[in-house]
Amino acid sequence: MTAVTLPARVVGFPFPFPHETYRYSTNVEPAGTRATTAAGGWGDHVVDVDEFYLAELAERDRVLAADPSRFQALPHMGAAQWETTTTLMRMLADAHPDRFSLTRDGTRWHWRNDELGLEQSFVPGDPDSLPEPPLRYIGRQVQEDIVLLDQRQGALWGDAGLVTFAADWSLRFDVGMSFLQIHGPVPRVHEEGVIPRAQQFLMGLQAGQRYRRTNWTLTVDRRLDTATETYPDWGRDRRLLAEGPLDDVGRRLHLRVEVQHLIRLGASNAILFLIRTHLLPLEDVALVPEWAQRLHDVLVELPDDMADYKGITRTRGPGIDWLREYAGTHN
Ligand code: HEM
Repeated sequence: MTAVTLPARVVGFPFPFPHETYRYSTNVEPAGTRATTAAGGWGDHVVDVDEFYLAELAERDRVLAADPSRFQALPHMGAAQWETTTTLMRMLADAHPDRFSLTRDGTRWHWRNDELGLEQSFVPGDPDSLPEPPLRYIGRQVQEDIVLLDQRQGALWGDAGLVTFAADWSLRFDVGMSFLQIHGPVPRVHEEGVIPRAQQFLMGLQAGQRYRRTNWTLTVDRRLDTATETYPDWGRDRRLLAEGPLDDVGRRLHLRVEVQHLIRLGASNAILFLIRTHLLPLEDVALVPEWAQRLHDVLVELPDDMADYKGITRTRGPGIDWLREYAGTHN
C-alpha cells in the first residue's frame, strides 16, 4: 500500500519505535523539523492542530468541568502563565494564519481563534483582561496538555499545568513537586541516571530552545482521559478486553503515543512542557505492516517491570496475539 491511500491519522501518526526493542532513555531531539515514518511524517509544528481539534477540546472541557483540579497553578507562576499564553497564540497564528491571528496595539493584544469562534482583547499581566487564568484560557484552545516547570535551587519544579489527558498520573498530586520526585514511580530510570541527566539537560536550555521526545503505552478504546482520578472508569477495561474475543482487539486496543515538547520561555525562565496524545487502534497500525511487526516485536521483548509500570500487563498479550500475523513479514 502506498502512503497516499492511508488516512491522515495514520500518515501523520508519530510512530515511536526506531529499534526492535524499547528501553527508557533521555530521548530528546531538536523540535520543529519533520520526522519521517514508514507512512509519512509528523512534527512540522510544535503545536499540532488536526482533524480531532474540536472533538478533543470538547473532551477537555468536559473533563475540566467534571474535575476543576485538572488545572493547577501555584501563585508565583503568573508570569510563566502569561508567557505561555502569548507563546502558544503566536505559534498557532504562525502555523495557521488562516484560522488564528494575534495582533498587538501597544500594551493591548488581540486574539482570534476562528476554529472555536473566539475573539479576545487582553493585556498580558492583567488578570482581569481574560475571563479565566491565562494558562487555563489557552490550554482550552490547544490539543496539548501543559505543564509549566519553574527553575530554582538547582532543580525544576512542576508548579502549574492544565492536564486532562494524563496517562495514569495526577497533576493535582504532582503539582509543586520536583522533577525527580515527579518521576519517582518510574522503574529503572533512577539507577540508570535517565532522569537526573534529563533534568541537567533541561536546566541548561537557553531562551527559545525547543526539544521534543516521545513516550508510549497501550489504551483500551479512544479514551484520552486515563488520569489516576478516573481509574474506576477505565481500569477494568483492560481485564475485560483480555477476557473478550480476539476479534475486538484490533478495533479497541490503541497504541497511545505522546509527543512531548520542551521549550525554554525567555522572559519567565520557566520550561513549557507540552504533551500531545495520539491514539491509533491496532487495526490502523496494521495498515502499515512494518509498524505492526515492530510493535509486535517491542511488546514481546518489553521487560515485565516496564510493562507493569505502563499498565499493559493484561493487554500486551492480546495485542501480541492480534499482531502475530504481521510478525516476521517485514525485515
Ligand atoms: C513519566 C522520562 C520530562 C512528567 C516518565 C517516564 C519516563 C520519563 C521514561 C515513564 C513513562 C512510561 O513508561 O510510560 C522523561 C524524560 C524527560 C521527561 C527523559 C525529559 C527529557 C518530563 C517533564 C515532566 C514529566 C518535563 C513534567 C512535569 C512525567 C510524569 C510521568 C512521567 C508525570 C508519570 C509519572 C507517574 O507515573 O506518576 N517520564 N520525562 N516528564 N513523566 Fe517524564
